[in-house]
Amino acid sequence: MKTKLEALKNQAINEINTTQDLKELQDIKIKYLGRKGELNTIKRGLKDIPPEERPVIGELANKTAAEIGENLNRVYENLYKKSVSQKLEAERIDVTLPGDYIPYGKQHPLTATVNEIISIFNRMGFMLVEEANNPEVETEYYNFDALNFPPDHPAKDMQDTFYTINAENLLLRSQTSNSQIREMENKRPPLRIISPGRVYRAEAISSRKYNLFHQVEGFMVDKEVTFGNLKGVLNEFTRQFFGQARPTRFRASFFPFTEPSAEIDVQCIICSGKGCRTCSGTGWLEILGAGMIDPNVLRTVNIDPEVYSGFAFGMGVERLAMLKFAINDIRLFFNNDVRFLEQF
Ligand code: DAH
Repeated sequence: MKTKLEALKNQAINEINTTQDLKELQDIKIKYLGRKGELNTIKRGLKDIPPEERPVIGELANKTAAEIGENLNRVYENLYKKSVSQKLEAERIDVTLPGDYIPYGKQHPLTATVNEIISIFNRMGFMLVEEANNPEVETEYYNFDALNFPPDHPAKDMQDTFYTINAENLLLRSQTSNSQIREMENKRPPLRIISPGRVYRAEAISSRKYNLFHQVEGFMVDKEVTFGNLKGVLNEFTRQFFGQARPTRFRASFFPFTEPSAEIDVQCIICSGKGCRTCSGTGWLEILGAGMIDPNVLRTVNIDPEVYSGFAFGMGVERLAMLKFAINDIRLFFNNDVRFLEQF
């Protein structure tokens, strides 16, 4: 029995010292010290030896187990340390390497322009239109009739406006002015609203025209709103948008929903004099349409024109952005060429 234990111990220690693998070490442990392991098998044989020898052999068996255990622990520690350092080596990070370049996304120049226009008017007390009052798919009523367009107005023609095939009188709005009617229908003065959005027109596409573009509409209705208020608000807008006080010119014009109406020009910002391509040598650039809201429009939304008055204006976002950033082709906004978009 003694020699058996001795041999077992030597064999175990030998196996323990030669393995290079943690999993294998675990198997060795089970093989010798496990419940059904070799040492237990020997211990079970204790009952067959003379009783007086049992304590000596029993103690020897325990010592053998302890020695094997010590060896297991020692080798385990070594192998474990080795495996950790191997892992660390494999996952080594060079903290001195430069970081990866992750390009930032940018706002589209039209989004940036719309946001800037909105914030200028916000500062003058204009509130953003309610989403539900600013639809792109609209009825003829809100896009034209309620805005005092006569029934035979040429803008209503299929050649200018996209009608849908879903229902008669349903169209893609040709102007953001529809939001004026919807806002005034649900709200009572005093009102100061700014309303940006997409509009659609059946245009032949060129460097200056696209059949989808953006407008920002604005209007104010209260007691005693005057044309002077309109001038003050729009002059302040051009000053902030173009970055300096810039002469403006209010030219008499016509829109069905305003009376009187005006088109507003700003002094050419890129002007190179007589042959200037931006303003065709006139020195002026048209930037928006405006006027005093026609009493017929106020009556349509049940606001008494004897008590209230208002002004309205509408501007083309692409046109303003083209002037501000000296862009010569409207199609650049819609091609989504990163070489163009990256510049903003
Ligand atoms: N809706 C006009 C257009 O698309 C622009 C416009 C002009 C809007 C005068 C207005 C306004 O609110 O008062 O050409």
